[in-house]
Amino acid sequence: MRKNIVAGNWKMNNSLQETKQLLSELVKQDKSSQAEVMVAPAFINLESAAQFLKESTIEVVAQNMHFASNGAYTGEISASMLKGVAVNTVILGHSERRAYFNETDELLAKKVDAALANNMRVIFCFGEELSDRKANNEEKVVESQIANALFHLEASAWENIVLAYEPVWAIGTGETATPNQAQDMHQFIRKTVENKYDSAVANSVSILYGGSVKPTNAKEIFSKEDVDGGLIGGASLKAEDFFAIVNAF
Ligand code: 13P
Repeated sequence: MRKNIVAGNWKMNNSLQETKQLLSELVKQDKSSQAEVMVAPAFINLESAAQFLKESTIEVVAQNMHFASNGAYTGEISASMLKGVAVNTVILGHSERRAYFNETDELLAKKVDAALANNMRVIFCFGEELSDRKANNEEKVVESQIANALFHLEASAWENIVLAYEPVWAIGTGETATPNQAQDMHQFIRKTVENKYDSAVANSVSILYGGSVKPTNAKEIFSKEDVDGGLIGGASLKAEDFFAIVNAF
């Protein structure tokens, strides 16, 4: 079943103290929405966050992980380490990882496989650059990002895949895709999945939108048929704003 999800990607923000402070504000927020809520603190604060939210319906997710199960990969974190601190979902393929850490589709395919092999859920991010959109190449770019990293999967594996369309030109810029631009792309993404698999897979995958989602624009974006939620950066760092977005459903 397709789920509505709102996930806060905190990126490299919040010390341990700030993490605890924000979490204590989050659990006090009134949640009238049916959407699943997730937050992604920095690696070092995941265990404390997972402990803190043990009794809460808010899920703690990771922002990244390595594909290997263990070994000589200085500075990296594996799927089993995440599972060991009760983190069962991981964001992979964020455009900042692609741009600043050279993550390629091929590398991401390996990370996806490792996460799924560890029974984790993956929030897989992709999206075009402004130059791609200006050249009318956005659909081609998005299709190849999805195909290269995910189309080797069996249909049954898609139960644990959530897609997150994040046009790079809308991330942290204050510029949001219009609700119609988001809907058009999400519809295209669903069709792409349907063409590769079938309508059952396509209709059950949640497709989130990310890029300058705010309390003021969330309702309109989420009202679109193929938009099943949001991946929220800046606005997820304030409990009140984040829950205003959650409650936009
Ligand atoms: P902003 O909401 O700050 O634009 O960030 C979006 C994002 O990158 C979420 O992963």
